[in-house]
Amino acid sequence: MSKPKLLMLHDNLAKPAMDMLRNRFHIEICKTSYVESIPTAQDIIDCIPGSFGLFCSSSVIISEDVLKAAGPNFKVIGAMSVGYDHIDLSLLKKYGIRLGNTLGVPTEAIAELTIGLLIATARRFQETNRELKTGGWKRWTPDWFLGLGLAKSTVGIIGYGNIGASVAEKLGCFKISELLYYSRSEKPAAKALGGKLVSVDELVKRSDYIIIAIALNKDTEFIMNRDRIFSMKPTAVLVNIGRGKLVDQDALTEALQQKRISGAGLDVMTPEPLPLDDPLMKLDNCILLPHIGSSTFETRASMAVLTAKNILAVLDNIPMPNEWQHCIMEKCLVKHDGVHFYVNFSIH
Ligand code: DGY
Repeated sequence: MSKPKLLMLHDNLAKPAMDMLRNRFHIEICKTSYVESIPTAQDIIDCIPGSFGLFCSSSVIISEDVLKAAGPNFKVIGAMSVGYDHIDLSLLKKYGIRLGNTLGVPTEAIAELTIGLLIATARRFQETNRELKTGGWKRWTPDWFLGLGLAKSTVGIIGYGNIGASVAEKLGCFKISELLYYSRSEKPAAKALGGKLVSVDELVKRSDYIIIAIALNKDTEFIMNRDRIFSMKPTAVLVNIGRGKLVDQDALTEALQQKRISGAGLDVMTPEPLPLDDPLMKLDNCILLPHIGSSTFETRASMAVLTAKNILAVLDNIPMPNEWQHCIMEKCLVKHDGVHFYVNFSIH
């Protein structure tokens, strides 16, 4: 019997993941129009017909046209990401498609990067490194490139999921004076660290460091809006490791240009990749990283393997190791304490 087709948007994945998939699927790598570019929606539409599944990352929007083009054999999207904002979840139900993601796998890598980015922004690594390399470092003076410390500061975390919680835990080493967080409900783990659940507005006004670690959805889009950005303390630093659209980027650019806030460290932005002529690129008080939160060798390998396992589970008609709470016929497969069961659920 011939193997079902799996369309992959990437081929440079960890070998164990590729081996697992090659054993059971006929792999087709999506052809892109330009060398080294991200496949466009049209590229995927051209390649996807007849596929059983799609192995993708968060860098490509999966539109309805893609799902239509895939055809009736299409059963699964394996997203090698925690976020699934690139997929319209209501379409999954409509087309009877299951979605797996890699929730929990990149937590530590992203939390570590968050702390690094926060310190790099607060202590001005970008400007100071450039000065050093361009001969600006002539002599030491006591007032040269002063930055901000974490000790005695108030840190506010917007979003207290796995990543927010891990960042908070790591901050425990830095002798901060107060931990504020915003979440839909009080988190016992945050309380144990002395964290205080507050509104976004209160968090924004009181924090010296604001870390955005919340999932992007229609309720959180632009959670850091213009008013909130302009109500930050003039010395405050904003770090975003969630998604670009959580922040009003135009307002943030203005605030940084006018030095209304101290700085921003962004691992995510809008759009990605950010055009070279974007005004953020010119700012010394903004450190930009190309969405590398989960980019450690080990994390990416584990993400690829889990994505492969999620896809294979659908082929074998068994519960995915990590399935997005997916609803077909108003039933939802959920996992609790390692046990899978169905509950009634509906997508709004
Ligand atoms: C994720 O896992 O969602 C990261 O942002 C990488 O896409």
